[in-house]
Amino acid sequence: MKLQELKSKITKDLSQTSPSPKLDTEVLLSYCLGFSKTDLLLKRDYEVPADKEAWLNDAVSRRAAGLPIAYITGHKEFYGYDFLVTPDVLIPKPDTEILVERAVDVILSMMYARGENLLTVCDMCTGSGCIALAVAKTLLEDERVPPEHLPKFTLADISEPALDIARRNAAALFSNLGSLVMSRFNFVRTNLFDAISEAIKYDVILSNPPYIPHTMVDELLRDGRSEPRLALDGDITLTGDRAREADGQAKDDGLEIIRNLIPQAQAHLAPRGTVLMETGEYNAEATAAIAEGMGFNTEIHKDLEGQLRVVEAWIATSLRSSQ
Ligand SMILES: C[S@@+](CC[C@H](N)C(=O)[O-])C[C@H]1O[C@@H](n2cnc3c(N)ncnc32)[C@H](O)[C@@H]1O
Repeated sequence: MKLQELKSKITKDLSQTSPSPKLDTEVLLSYCLGFSKTDLLLKRDYEVPADKEAWLNDAVSRRAAGLPIAYITGHKEFYGYDFLVTPDVLIPKPDTEILVERAVDVILSMMYARGENLLTVCDMCTGSGCIALAVAKTLLEDERVPPEHLPKFTLADISEPALDIARRNAAALFSNLGSLVMSRFNFVRTNLFDAISEAIKYDVILSNPPYIPHTMVDELLRDGRSEPRLALDGDITLTGDRAREADGQAKDDGLEIIRNLIPQAQAHLAPRGTVLMETGEYNAEATAAIAEGMGFNTEIHKDLEGQLRVVEAWIATSLRSSQ
């Protein structure tokens, strides 16, 4: 079939099930044929080989069953960088880009104020590694940050398969920069901070933890998206059970992991350190209140859609204004 004809057919098929059939069609065709967006416009009469057409038909069926395009292609762009993704990891979301942006600002001002000492950064609940790796990539693109000043990053997750993807992403994004840069990434399998000694302190702790209420996760997963529940459900205790009130009623505010994360992050935070946590727009204020209850000062940052998204927390000291 000719490209233009196939493109129309795929868009029509996807329009039954996808909210963005045109975009999905372009992404699938570009990935499968190795064509740029311009190629897709110009090569209308290109005869698509039969094996590629078969792959595309299969991809359309998988998309129709709810599988996101990123799991079909195995790639997702986040903060301008390409990340490998599989159903073992959450697909990086544009909502999270504000966390990266703020983290870069915080780290640059700390580096500027503190001189030669290498900063330490922990990305707790790292998944694909997209937050830590996008921060590191962006820092290295700044001419004020030579590779030898790159902070040390710890990428932590409870899921070994997720850490495997994070390792592969680090290698894909940084191995061409040599062993010094690669040595700055350390991967730890841990249930929040339980495998990280309290003697280890971080200047910056970043986290996009699971924060969605349990019943909302049930709803979300109904569309067949295949994202791991472990990455989404915030109502889970440290022992992996559904969180409950004292009277036995199931909790459904998405905050159980955050309730555990905040004190643990505080115990691992270096003096003058900063915590940046992603939350839902519906539980950002409650997250800030939990942090304030532990003695943190907080500020809530909005995402690009204007929704409350990132809680920044720090312990007040007279030195913070100069970092
Ligand atoms: C919302 S996803 C975030 C992934 C990635 N940082 C991102 O922003 O796309 C949450 C991640 O937390 C991990 N996770 C869930 N419970 C955890 C726990 N108790 N300790 C450490 N990681 C956990 C999941 O495996 C998942 O990778």
